[in-house]
Amino acid sequence: MTTTVITGIGELVTNDPGREGLLGLVHDAALVVEGGRIAWVGPAAEAPEADVQVDAGGRAVIPGFVDSHSHLVFAGDRSAEFEARMTGQPYTAGGIRTTVARTRAASDEQLTSHVARLVAEMRAQGTTTLEIKSGYGLSVHDEARSLAVARQFTEETTFLGAHVVPADTSAEAYVDLVTGPMLAAAAPHARWIDVFCEDGAFDVDQARTILAAGSASGLRGRLHANQLTYGGGVQLACELGLVAVDHCTFLSPLDVESLRDSRTIATLLPGVEFSTRQPYPDARGLLDAGVRIALASDCNPGSCFTSSMALCIALAVREMRMSPAEALHAATAMGAAALDRDDVGVLAPGKAADLVLLDAPSYVHLAYRPGVPLVAGVWQAGRPTL
Ligand code: NIG
Ligand code: FE
Repeated sequence: MTTTVITGIGELVTNDPGREGLLGLVHDAALVVEGGRIAWVGPAAEAPEADVQVDAGGRAVIPGFVDSHSHLVFAGDRSAEFEARMTGQPYTAGGIRTTVARTRAASDEQLTSHVARLVAEMRAQGTTTLEIKSGYGLSVHDEARSLAVARQFTEETTFLGAHVVPADTSAEAYVDLVTGPMLAAAAPHARWIDVFCEDGAFDVDQARTILAAGSASGLRGRLHANQLTYGGGVQLACELGLVAVDHCTFLSPLDVESLRDSRTIATLLPGVEFSTRQPYPDARGLLDAGVRIALASDCNPGSCFTSSMALCIALAVREMRMSPAEALHAATAMGAAALDRDDVGVLAPGKAADLVLLDAPSYVHLAYRPGVPLVAGVWQAGRPTL
């Protein structure tokens, strides 16, 4: 098998818990890639010989971003809704139905090429692992085909039939549909099941029922909770021991205690607060309480249409008082943990060789230089893809 050594890495973020500090930094580093995986990491002066040598030219290298929350399968445009919001309209989940109508009307080919474009956009910005949800189909046929499209791009697919209740249905009948025929059609294409647990979407009892049905079909649960209002979603996620609960914007002291006492990761999505002018989640308070945090984009046409994990890091640092190191860790290693993956998000022997070269001397520039395209190269499974 061909081996490749990347030398001349000015600063290497490994996220290896066996090394010092949160990020396990190595300066003047090299790493060796073999068969899609990392074979060796260490000081450049000690690097072993390899078949191919690549010079990073003093750049910083980080693990590829792990974006554990996105809604890429959709059609249509909601920029007018965004514009109205920026001139005073509040964000409501009502816009989801606009996207549902457009998504149902799109062909499989249109949906696939749209997802391909967004995935390419993410990759060019350094995302090497991503999760994709359904949730703009809301019929048996349209949820199943949304997931079949998503599955072409990632193993991390999530059935979000319980996004909102479609216009022409009662909540009770819709929960029966989601937990019955829709779940049966979706399950073969999905790894996860998610519910939008919120006023105006699904309540805690409905979420519990839907997650239980998903679990009986072999899907693992995750939750959208406490995005727009206080509620019981976060506590349900902790009680059920879900891997992740996402948004966590409106948290009571009891919610924070539940998170602290559980292994459930709070996935914060600061692009949403930026794009809806909502207050940001209290990342600092959560971290200080000992809660595990991931950062993700929530890329979707309504509440947040960015695919940039670097923007999320910059917002987390500027607006949520995370340190640059905490924010990068949350966007890589913790994103992987939020997908229950131990093969990505860390650059150590045996892990996937998914990495990003930055046109910068340090990872700190991700937050220090907001909006600047710093990604100089992306390697996926040991091969340069950019
Ligand atoms: O994560 N919260 C629910 N779903 C998306 C928004 C969907 C939309 O507005 O289209 C979210 O913010
Ligand atoms: Fe979401």
